[in-house]
Amino acid sequence: MKRIAVVPGSFDPVTLGHLDVISRAAGLYDEVHVLVVHNPDKAALLPIAQRVALLEQSIAEAEVRGTVIVASWSMGLLVDYVTEVGAQVLVKGIRSQIDVAYETPMAIVNRHLAGVETIFMLPDPSHAHVSSSLVRQVANLGGDISPYVPPAVARFLQR
Ligand code: PNS
Repeated sequence: MKRIAVVPGSFDPVTLGHLDVISRAAGLYDEVHVLVVHNPDKAALLPIAQRVALLEQSIAEAEVRGTVIVASWSMGLLVDYVTEVGAQVLVKGIRSQIDVAYETPMAIVNRHLAGVETIFMLPDPSHAHVSSSLVRQVANLGGDISPYVPPAVARFLQR
C-alpha cells in the first residue's frame, strides 16, 4: 500500500518551520500532499493561488526529496480531501503546548469523522518561534522577514 500523508495549513505564507515539517514528512511517506486550506478565523495576507505558487517554488528551491504535491481545498471538510486522494494520515507541526491545545480537538474530530489519524511532528527548535502570523505582521510593518521564510517568499513579499 502506498503511504500517503496530507500536510494541511493556511500557509499564509509558508515559513521555514513549515518547510522543515514538509521535508521530514516527505522522508517518511511515499507521497505527501501539502494542502492549502482557507482558515476563516485568520485575516488573509495572500490569495490561495499565490500561497500554492510560493509553496511550489519553496519546495523546489529547497530540493525537498520525495514526491510532494501542492494543492488547495475549499469545498468542505479536510478529511474529504484526505479520503479522496487515498491518504491515511494528516501531519501537523507542533512548536509548543499552545499548538498541542489548538491541534488536539481537530485531530480527535478528524478521527471521529473519517478515521483519519493525525501525526504530530516536532520541527527543528530553531523554528520554534516562527509563525505565519508573526511573518504577516513584520511584513506589513516593513520589517525583514528573510530569517523566517524561504527565499522565494522573502523575494515576493519584499517586492
Ligand atoms: O495553518 P492553520 O491556519 O493552523 O491551519 C488550520 C486548518 C486550515 C488546517 C484547519 O482550520 C482545518 O483543518 N480546516 C478544515 C476545515 C475542517 O475540516 N474542519 C472540521 C474538522 S477540524
